[in-house]
Amino acid sequence: MFDIVTIGSATRDNFLKGDYPLVDDKNSPSGKAYALPYGEKLSVDDVYFTIGGNAANAAVTFARHGYKTACAAKIGKDLPAKEFLARLKLEGVNTKLVSQTDEKPTAYSVLLLSEQGERTILGYHGASDTFKLSDLRFTKLRSKWWYLSLAGESDKMYLPLLDFAKENKISVAFNPSGHHIKHKKEEILKGLDKLALMVLNKSEAAEITGISFENEKEVFKRMDELVAGIVAVTDGPNGVTVSDGKNLYRAGIFKEKQVIDRTGAGDSFGSGFVARLALYSIPYTPDAIKDAIRFASANATSVVESVGATEGVLRKEQFEKDPRWKNFEIKMEKL
Ligand SMILES: Nc1ncnc2c1ncn2[C@@H]1O[C@H](COP(=O)(O)OP(=O)(O)OP(=O)(O)O)[C@@H](O)[C@H]1O
Ligand SMILES: [Mg+2]
Repeated sequence: MFDIVTIGSATRDNFLKGDYPLVDDKNSPSGKAYALPYGEKLSVDDVYFTIGGNAANAAVTFARHGYKTACAAKIGKDLPAKEFLARLKLEGVNTKLVSQTDEKPTAYSVLLLSEQGERTILGYHGASDTFKLSDLRFTKLRSKWWYLSLAGESDKMYLPLLDFAKENKISVAFNPSGHHIKHKKEEILKGLDKLALMVLNKSEAAEITGISFENEKEVFKRMDELVAGIVAVTDGPNGVTVSDGKNLYRAGIFKEKQVIDRTGAGDSFGSGFVARLALYSIPYTPDAIKDAIRFASANATSVVESVGATEGVLRKEQFEKDPRWKNFEIKMEKL
């Protein structure tokens, strides 16, 4: 039996780093856009070939923490698929739950990475978005924990998976994808009482509760009513707020040396939280939750300090031995 199974997306990620010209663009959420001359050839400064997708990213965190880990996802039968499997195996992640199809190519992203660590992603979802219940081998899915993040067609698996987890006493951590929230919000709400942990960012929390994040306490009150377990709401470089139903924990971030690439911050935080929580037993004490927040934050900072979603993922010993990750202020208040 595995300790942890991650269920979700799998991609081949290729980064092209360059000094791309920026222009103001009021239609872009950041207010900026790359301006690449149409019909021309451009040289880039560096390339990095990595893997991504939340199931793969989270699996690397768990494997580097010493857990017997499997990744359940769907890829094609092509060269990127071979490269994807080879990378996971190198990390010690079991790949027998990765299903392969010749109907669609492996999901593939090109990430145009700026010198400032921001990126524009051109993503093809391919095989990953066709991941469905019939691709899963349920008997092999029994484990202590699942890390769940479903995109595309795979969001249909959400409620059946949660039923299976409940019957088999599997603790489920859920990180909803933007696609899932947009298309199946009502269904997401129905499953929240079966979760051990929900990790999401601030705008996703506002979207799910229908409450503006200006009323932070109200958002948490509603999330606590809906989610059986712990709720962690991330806010990028501002840090995180966590509720265990009794206490609210607030933390900033471990100051990064330099943001090289912010890809994978969310996944490294969410999976990092589970990697520590899984060391403790229910009911989780405030100390267990603080330990989870500290590692999740350290893991995210380390990940944004290198290119790719998994390169910087910390090993258990690195986290426990390096004095850099020792002191971290976490404020706790009664709810
Ligand atoms: N620049 C940063 N430096 C250090 N830590 C960061 C940085 N950005 C994010 N983090 C940490 O990672 C956590 C998750 O980040 P964020 O809230 O951006 O997730 P997200 O919106 O799900 O991101 P993603 O785009 O990866 O899905 C934050 O709560 C914070 O602890
Ligand atoms: Mg995210």
